[in-house]
Amino acid sequence: MRSTVIPVIMAFTFALKTNDLTPGKVRPITIGTRTIAIANVGGKFYAFQNPCTHMGGHLSEGMVMGPVVVCPLHGCQFDITTGERLSGPTNRPIKTFETKVEGDDLLIDIDV
Ligand code: FES
Repeated sequence: MRSTVIPVIMAFTFALKTNDLTPGKVRPITIGTRTIAIANVGGKFYAFQNPCTHMGGHLSEGMVMGPVVVCPLHGCQFDITTGERLSGPTNRPIKTFETKVEGDDLLIDIDV
């Protein structure tokens, strides 16, 4: 029996207006069934999964220090540019998403 390959379609999708997220802030957005955290670090935007890979803490409620987000529940630290887990009680990385700005719209590359 042949298996069916279902392609994942990635597409840049509107996330928010850039002036709705000032530098140093992070907030969650929902696209479809996914909750994504978006951070503004010095005017550059990063998008990554909101649920922590440890026990689902909301990374959008954590502290962002440069390219690192700290989970508010148990302190896991992740590099938001790569998703790499840097420290804390999980070994699993987080998923990150490419971003781009068009006009004053922030778009993220996410499977839809
Ligand atoms: S839920 Fe994030 S470190 Fe535990």
